[in-house]
Parts: sequence; structure tokens; C-alpha cells
Amino acid sequence: MATEKTFYLETFGCQMNAHDSEKVIGTLQQQGYRQVETEEEAGLILYNTCSIRDKAEQKVFHRLNDYKALHKAGKRFGVLGCVAQQEGEKIFEKAPFVSLVSGSASYRKLPEMIARLEAGENRITGLDDRQIEETFETEFTARQNPYRGYITIIEGCDKFCSYCVVPYTRGKERSRTSSSVLAEARRIADLGYTEIQLLGQNVNSYRDPEGKMSFADLLDSVGRVPGIRRVRFTTSHPRDFTCDIVQAIDTNPALCDHVHLPVQSGSARVLKRMAREYTPDWYLERIEWIKSARRTISLSTDIIVGFPGETEDDFIQTMDLLAKVQYDCVFAFKYSARPNTPALVMIDSIPEKEKATRLQVLLDRQREIQRVNYAMHIGEQMEVMVEGQNPARGQIAGRSSQNKAVNFTCAQPIAPAPGSYMQVKITAAHPNSLVGESI
Ligand code: SAH
Ligand code: SF4
Ligand code: F3S
Repeated sequence: MATEKTFYLETFGCQMNAHDSEKVIGTLQQQGYRQVETEEEAGLILYNTCSIRDKAEQKVFHRLNDYKALHKAGKRFGVLGCVAQQEGEKIFEKAPFVSLVSGSASYRKLPEMIARLEAGENRITGLDDRQIEETFETEFTARQNPYRGYITIIEGCDKFCSYCVVPYTRGKERSRTSSSVLAEARRIADLGYTEIQLLGQNVNSYRDPEGKMSFADLLDSVGRVPGIRRVRFTTSHPRDFTCDIVQAIDTNPALCDHVHLPVQSGSARVLKRMAREYTPDWYLERIEWIKSARRTISLSTDIIVGFPGETEDDFIQTMDLLAKVQYDCVFAFKYSARPNTPALVMIDSIPEKEKATRLQVLLDRQREIQRVNYAMHIGEQMEVMVEGQNPARGQIAGRSSQNKAVNFTCAQPIAPAPGSYMQVKITAAHPNSLVGESI
């Protein structure tokens, strides 16, 4: 009897990677593989990796090392994703027990690569497809998220910010046709999902290869797919953020009240060195468009502190920008020098301790901003989509249209299922979540 084909897959990094893993799982299942929960149970061990910050590559090698003894038991290893693309065949030198190294642009070749693996081949690579026009079609996606259907609408990035690995790991920017995006949205709705999240490193840089729709048109059309009640999109780039996105949100109730618009820094000088190609004033103009919408649209952002040459004054300008915008959520990171990026030639002059201090000062200030923002919801009634439960606290966990976490009690004897909607009255607030009771 043939032994059963099994795989273990662990995912690091952004939502694009999480969704890529759904595609990898679906493709493997199509090839007759069954997913298992631990490395020990699996015949094939896969890591879908991220290299955005820190010593990401080292972490992957440590992880591989932890499990390399399993190779002797006949298990095969594969490294996927951004570290795979970045390090390429060097991975075989450092970890000779790895048999497969593939970046995300080559996943369409997975069936072929898996067949070669099964035939006993080693050192199989999928590394050469980053610069071609094709996108990965998704008919075998095995959706893992019980309440949110992801759709990649654009892959890669052509912006080349001076600190960032993504243009190298994910390759050139390429959009899917609006017809194929809408067909996938309808398939997701048929599966019973009511929430869709459109994904792209710069989701709003979308250019329909069929020339039928702008990004705002596509958002609106996805929001009109029967059965779809919530549409999110991430990540927007300020350079390509247009007024009609705000108009679409204002007119189509299915589009969520939330825009994630990474600013990175409040200093014009630092933004220039980052090659972001906008100034703080230009960014703030887009924020004004969003704030003058009829609906109250929640704002979130990403910030890098301690970029090479960032002075105390530059940092204060970032703090001033936070005070002006009053974000509901900020993802802040210490600058970390990455392989192959232009910023590597800039002297990483700010001591780690100073970076850590700036990060802490920023996060403390932002926490106070959020304390006030979240408290404003007390007494409101809002629609919450259920995501799961917190049995220890006897609470249901969900999310508002503004993307705020809402933990609430519910009088029903049976807990509502993930993906269902409840009306919740907000009774208390924390800087990162709201508390309420269902009505
Ligand atoms: N395409 C998106 C961001 C993708 S990466 C955009 O341009 O806005 C997610 C976040 O990681 C970035 O917004 C940035 O804040 C952070 N990041 C990227 N490279 C980094 C680096 N080298 N050091 C620290 N943070 C980094
Ligand atoms: Fe990286 Fe800049 Fe592209 Fe964002 S826009 S993925 S930060 S290069
Ligand atoms: Fe990481 Fe690659 Fe995403 S570097 S953040 S997994 S695009």
C-alpha cells in the first residue's frame, strides 16, 4: 500500500503570505496530500517565510536546524516565500537537507515541482518568475479563514522604497483582470463568505489589464456582489491614493469604514531618503479627503523609527503627524537594514537603544490617542462580525466595520458562529479594543 502523502506548513509574514499559503495548501491537496498539525507527523515540511525585518533569514535557518534530524527519518523540507526568493540556492548550501526553494511568483509551478520532489529529485528551485507578467490563478485555494475571503488583486511592487526587500522578493507589479477578480469574489460569496479582503503590497496601484475598471470601480463592484456585506483592502500606498476611493466608500455601504495608509515618517527629509515620493503635506491632503467623507472612516498606518540619519527633530515631526491624524491603530517598527536594498549604503547611525527609545515614546503617545478615540464609542450601537470566542472570559470576539476589535457578551445559549453579524452596545473601551453586550 502506498504511504499517505502528508505535509506541514507554517506561515510567517503579511496577509499576502497567509493567503499564498491558502493557495499552496489547496494545490497540495489537489496533488493528494493531507495537511497535518506537526512537523513530526508530516512527510513534507514547508515554511512560507518573510524577510521584511530583523534577522528573518537567520530565524528560518534556526527553525530548519531545530528539525533537521527529521530528515534522517526520510522527511523532505521546502522553503517558500520571501526568504526563499531572497536567499535562493544559498539555502541549499546552508541547509543541505532542504529539497525545494521557491518564491511566491513560482507557485503556479508547484504541481510540477512536487512531482519532481516525489521522484526523488533534490535542489528543486522556483526562483525565476518574478519579472514575468503572469499572476497565480487560484482555483485550488483552500480557504483557512472561517469568516474572511482573501483575494490577491495585484502582486509585486515597483516602488523601490530604499529600505524595503519586497520589490526584490515579490518582483514586478502585475495586476489581475477585473473579470477574474470578480469571478473569484462570486465564488467566495457562493462558499458562504460575506467578507472579502482585497490584497496587494500596494493594493490601490491596481491597473486592470482589461482596462475596464479603476481600483475604486473594482472596490465598488466587489461590494455589489450578491451576499457580500463587507469589503476591506490592504495595503494602500499614499502615492496612488485617489479621491474616488473615498467616494466609493461613501456611496457603497458594503465597503468598510477603514483605510490603512502607511506614512513611514512625518519628516519630508526622511521621506525623501526613503524614496517614498511624497511629502508630509501631500500625505495629509489625502488624510483630509478621508476625514471629510460623510462616513467616519477609521485610519491606521505603518511607521519606521530610526531610519539612517533620522534626527531628534525628524522624529518630533513624526510625533506631530500622529497628533494631527489621530490614527486608530499604528504599526511601528525600528528600522532594520535589509540585504540588497539601497538604504544599506546609508550609515545605520542610530544606536539600537535610541531606536528602542523612540519606538517606545511613539507607542506610548499613540496609546493615549487610542484611549481617547476608542472611549468615544461608549454608548454607541454597532454591527459586529463574529470572529471567534474567548471562553475563559465568557466573551465573543468580533470586529466592527472600522476594524476595531469588539469583545462582547451574548445572552444566547449557543454562541454565534464565526462570520455571523450581531448588533452590539458598547459599554467600555480599552486603547486597543471595545467591550459590549449584544442586543
Ligand atoms: N507596501 C506597503 C508596506 C509593505 S511592508 C507600503 O508601502 O506601505 C509593511 C511595513 O513594514 C512597511 O509599511 C514598513 O513600515 C515596514 N518595513 C518595511 N521594510 C522595513 C525595514 N527595512 N525596517 C523596518 N520596517 C520595515
Ligand atoms: Fe516596500 Fe515601498 Fe513597495 Fe511598500 S511601496 S512594498 S514599502 S518598496
Ligand atoms: Fe514579509 Fe514578503 Fe510579506 S517580506 S511582509 S512575507 S511580502
